[in-house]
Amino acid sequence: MSPRILVLHGPNLNLLGTREPDVYGALTLTDINRRLRDYAAQQDIDLRTFQFNSEGAMIDAIHEARSWAQGIVINPGAYAHTSYALRDAIAGVGLPAVEVHLSNVHAREEFRHVSVIAPVCVGQIIGFGRRSYLLGLEALRQLLAER
Ligand code: DQA
Repeated sequence: MSPRILVLHGPNLNLLGTREPDVYGALTLTDINRRLRDYAAQQDIDLRTFQFNSEGAMIDAIHEARSWAQGIVINPGAYAHTSYALRDAIAGVGLPAVEVHLSNVHAREEFRHVSVIAPVCVGQIIGFGRRSYLLGLEALRQLLAER
């Protein structure tokens, strides 16, 4: 059976391509999602991708994932640093989640050094640009395959 995985992009990631390209790269979110879909097709992963700017919409998507997904790849954007509500949602649904960031948050401003999401995720992949998502997806695929 194909693993069913939610990829959830957080706030401001809809601006990728034009948003601080020196930090986040030149690819748009559509480009990144296309690469994820291609990889999912190769690996026989049933993938759904969503992007939301609001915390509540992200929480709703995590809750809904309970009914169909087996795991979550999440780039929480700046909510990684602030949102206890997002953390509680991930903990609450009990699905394995992999936190990804395009940029190396530890090499940036101090407020980005802390993720309140990290303790409820199985792991983090940070700083590999668009590859962070693919590595996160592959890590989760392997984890689910071993279960
Ligand atoms: C980010 C890092 C966050 O600190 C920032 O707020 C983002 C993008 C990343 O992918 O590098 O929106 O999550």
